[in-house]
Amino acid sequence: MELIILPSHDVDAVAARLVADDLRAASPGVLGVATGSSPLGVYAALERMIAAGDLDLSRTRAFALDEYVGIPADHPESYAAVIRREVVERLGMNPAFVRVPDGRADDLELACAEYEAAIRHAGGIDVQILGIGANGHIGFNEPSSSLASRTRVKTLTRATREANARFFDDVADVPTHCLTQGIGTILDAQHLVLVARGEAKAEAIRQAAEGPVSARWPASALQLHPNVTLVIDDDAASHL
Ligand code: GLP
Repeated sequence: MELIILPSHDVDAVAARLVADDLRAASPGVLGVATGSSPLGVYAALERMIAAGDLDLSRTRAFALDEYVGIPADHPESYAAVIRREVVERLGMNPAFVRVPDGRADDLELACAEYEAAIRHAGGIDVQILGIGANGHIGFNEPSSSLASRTRVKTLTRATREANARFFDDVADVPTHCLTQGIGTILDAQHLVLVARGEAKAEAIRQAAEGPVSARWPASALQLHPNVTLVIDDDAASHL
């Protein structure tokens, strides 16, 4: 695991450079995208590279990590909508090449199996952008998730629903279930680039980098991957 600790304002540009290098090498490549606030600056930095003519993602495929179950696709906080707004539109990607798990499917298990098959069919993910939850979740793999898990339905913890309530009118409006790539699915990507900022993430980062590999802190499974880069600010590194 490579750790890059930087002043907060440098995190996005450095993470974006790593992602862009992988995608240029794989051209057009397959990008794994994440939601949450942490990756937004990375997308903005990628957008600047594209505007400068240094990167072209128009033929790049992308797969999102997760989606709420039951949320209408046109709800502004569905991950389908967030990815469309923050990734597809900003990065000039082809919407037909960008997939988000289908949280509205009649058969959710089938939707999960098809999602796994689609990633395989695309040749696997070249570089996966990750955030991290304060409880160490990656994607929506909450504590106690199997480290070998594949894309599946999960129940969201109360803590995660409360953390994500800021995107909704009320915590009661935050869906109770989600579809998420499993930890095993995430570990199949060629390169994982995790971004984190702030003291609230410091313990999760410590457990991810230095803790025992344990389902108690799902991000500790990253220690099993040969090519992981944590790009974090001084506050997120403060428990190391
Ligand atoms: C959500 C997402 C995760 C993300 C986490 C942290 O739960 N499913 O992929 O890493 O939030 O979000 P933030 O970056 O806003 O702290």
